[in-house]
Amino acid sequence: PVKSYEFIETTEPRPGVGQITLNRPKALNAISTPLITELNHALLAFDSSPQISTILLTGSAKAFAAGADIKEMSTLTFSEAYTTSFIESWSLLTTIKKPIIAAVSGHALGGGCELALMCDILYCTEGANFGQPEIKLGTIPGAGGSQRLTKAIGKSRAMELILTGKNFTGKEAGEWGVAARTFGSWEELIEGSLKTAETIAGYSKVAVMAAKEVVNKSQDLGVRDGVEYERRVFHSLFGSEDQKVGMKAFAEKKKPEWTNK
Ligand code: HXC
Repeated sequence: PVKSYEFIETTEPRPGVGQITLNRPKALNAISTPLITELNHALLAFDSSPQISTILLTGSAKAFAAGADIKEMSTLTFSEAYTTSFIESWSLLTTIKKPIIAAVSGHALGGGCELALMCDILYCTEGANFGQPEIKLGTIPGAGGSQRLTKAIGKSRAMELILTGKNFTGKEAGEWGVAARTFGSWEELIEGSLKTAETIAGYSKVAVMAAKEVVNKSQDLGVRDGVEYERRVFHSLFGSEDQKVGMKAFAEKKKPEWTNK
């Protein structure tokens, strides 16, 4: 991306990997509408960039994001929220076709937790501070937390967290399956996240995007419909060049040279 941003930074730290770093340190990366606008711009730019295969979304060691911007929301009226579809723009992340890894350290509260939950793979430090504290502000999660957290950890645990506003640690996130892996430090988190991103970026882009698509379908469809959907996409990959490249390379004991076609 050529655009320069105020609240985020974009880099390409490894071949095929686009990194977006939330960068509003004074507000612990509180997610304002201008921040989301920039994030969405960067996500779309990476999604359409032929150089990028995988996206890494992170914040700082101190905060992934401490929530939606409370100061921005404090004066918003119902009619303003309703007529502008407040928060709906956050969902753009879920329409991105390339895999998104969230690397979470420090606070991931409210909308910050929800943003991390929207990503495809969540990695965090053991000390990360997750939570849905909206109840303490007289409101409820508004960016999918009640749905995604519940799917991830089950109804009773999600209900307890959302009704009490109690936080949970990165270690717990790992134990409960919210996080795919946990790391001891910020440096290890970033290195581990980049390694995974690089691994994914080393595969055929067509297969990677199809794999993400079918796994995400499992969140919306019943098993029978989901398996049928998977089979359709699986069949469609017989039409890709890379499926032939991959299988031929295996038979010839060679490293596949992906064409991304
Ligand atoms: C706006 C925020 C903020 C937020 C922190 N800040 N979180 N500003 N919105 N969500 C600002 C503070 O006002 C302060 O600014 C600066 O960041 C540093 O924060 P401190 O509180 O001084 O830091 P600390 O004492 O270390 O405490 C960290 C914290 C606390 C525990 C994370 O800031 C906190 O409780 N934040 C709110 C967390 C929260 O309730 N999140 C959910 C929001 S609701 P100044 O200018 O005073 O220095 C939500 C709704 C989602 O997300 C629904 C739709 C998406």
